[in-house]
Amino acid sequence: MTVEVQRILVIGAGAMGRQIGAVFALAGYDTTVGDVSQDIVDAARDEIRTRIARLAEKGQVDDPQAALSRLTWTSDWDDAAREADLVVEAATERLELKRQIFARVSELARPDAILGTNSSTIPSSLLADSIRNPERLCNMHFFNPALVMACVEIVPNPQTSQETIDTVVSVSQRTGKEVVLLKREIPGFIANRLMQAVLDEAMRLHASDVATIEDIDAAARLALGHPMGPFQLMDLVGNDVISFIHHAEFELTGDESAKPSPELEALVAEGRLGRKAGRGWYDYSS
Ligand code: 3HC
Repeated sequence: MTVEVQRILVIGAGAMGRQIGAVFALAGYDTTVGDVSQDIVDAARDEIRTRIARLAEKGQVDDPQAALSRLTWTSDWDDAAREADLVVEAATERLELKRQIFARVSELARPDAILGTNSSTIPSSLLADSIRNPERLCNMHFFNPALVMACVEIVPNPQTSQETIDTVVSVSQRTGKEVVLLKREIPGFIANRLMQAVLDEAMRLHASDVATIEDIDAAARLALGHPMGPFQLMDLVGNDVISFIHHAEFELTGDESAKPSPELEALVAEGRLGRKAGRGWYDYSS
């Protein structure tokens, strides 16, 4: 049995939230994307307008205006939280921040609303005690760029109801994505654990001066058929995000090997966050 979903609120208009919002709107849902920063909201709206127009040019969207008219952008998401059938949190990968957001959502949202978190690593059971109806919560994990990547990982926590699982599976399928449903929680889920193994090995190879980042990336692309090399991928996702994932996994597991590499930490400290900063492992300024 599923809950009927028509109105969705996405909290966070960063790289992930804005595209997740667009994915929902393209699938026919009335979608609000909210963020505390008006600057981020404005940048997100502009980017998504361009992306949807481009998809229409390529014949992948029939009616871009209809999709855009289903999207609302706001720096005050309280009303949208009251009305939403589904709320998807896509904020920065910080446990305390996510707990605060869910506590606020829980005050405002209808008791029957379904709640999803796009957390990269943090299992939803760690957020469950900040909300009234933990059986309505699960992880709903999209991939960057969400408009392109064809998968959503759904991770129920031990309290998640079957109705909640069925609903998020059904919504994800309506967006055209393939669902990967985990049987149980594990920090990092499946895709990020696989990705992290590759990224960590790439950073070890580079730190041991085995090869340049260009050659390591070329090996991943040309020998293994990855769409992009590990250093290119870190720059796409954001080196700060990759660092957050490592920190979150270390905090959740206590496993020292989950800590980010010194090279990655140095890059983040220098502000070399990847494409969005114009510099990361590579230089994008030209
Ligand atoms: N946003 C939206 N669409 C994008 C995009 C972006 N940032 N970048 C590229 N695209 C789309 C465009 O529509 C583009 O078509 P266009 O020519 O009409 O603009 C199309 O993808 C192809 O793009 P490009 O020709 O520029 O480049 P590629 O063929 O290399 O494709 C890619 C780009 C889709 C990003 C591809 O390289 C890829 O699949 N890379 C791997 C990405 C990946 O592994 N993502 C998962 C990361 S892990 C994650 O997100 C989890 C999180 O928790 C951290």
